[in-house]
Amino acid sequence: MKMKLAVLAVMVLPMSSGAVLAGDAAVGEGDFKKCKACHAITAADGTKIVKGGRTGPDLYGVIGRAAGSSEGFKYSASLAQAGEGGLVWDEERLAAFIADPNRFLKEATGAEKAKSKMTFKHKKGAEDMAAYLATLTE
Ligand code: HEC
Repeated sequence: MKMKLAVLAVMVLPMSSGAVLAGDAAVGEGDFKKCKACHAITAADGTKIVKGGRTGPDLYGVIGRAAGSSEGFKYSASLAQAGEGGLVWDEERLAAFIADPNRFLKEATGAEKAKSKMTFKHKKGAEDMAAYLATLTE
């Protein structure tokens, strides 16, 4: 119950401050080289937009989908829990997650020990990355 309330807080607060960020998608696209060691981007029809590693889930259509819902990927318990609790990625939440995954999941789940399997932090240009990923959807 405590977890659900925390997730709700994360979902409601960004809306009041406006969930669309002023990121630059072109800058984000250039920065994706930092992500592709672990993430690929594959369109629904199988087209490989970015060939990448499999340490992390495929990021096609990530904006608008529930956290932790890429089929076949084994997420950390914390990220799976946040998704089950109703967390859906929008630009603001995604930018906050990639800037500091552990901290984001602590806030989203309300669990002090929450931990992400993503060890990389993308602090500078997180909004640009969110804007880029928002373009990759149906
Ligand atoms: C060292 C490998 C690694 C790098 C580099 C990395 N990630 Fe990740 N990423 C992961 C892993 C592993 C997960 C799954 C996290 C979990 O289960 O807690 C993840 C999860 C995510 C998710 C959540 C996806 C979902 O389906 O809920 C997003 C969004 C994401 N990464 C974006 C990025 C972006 C953008 C970059 C580049 C700035 C990046 N990642 C760099 C390994 C990485």
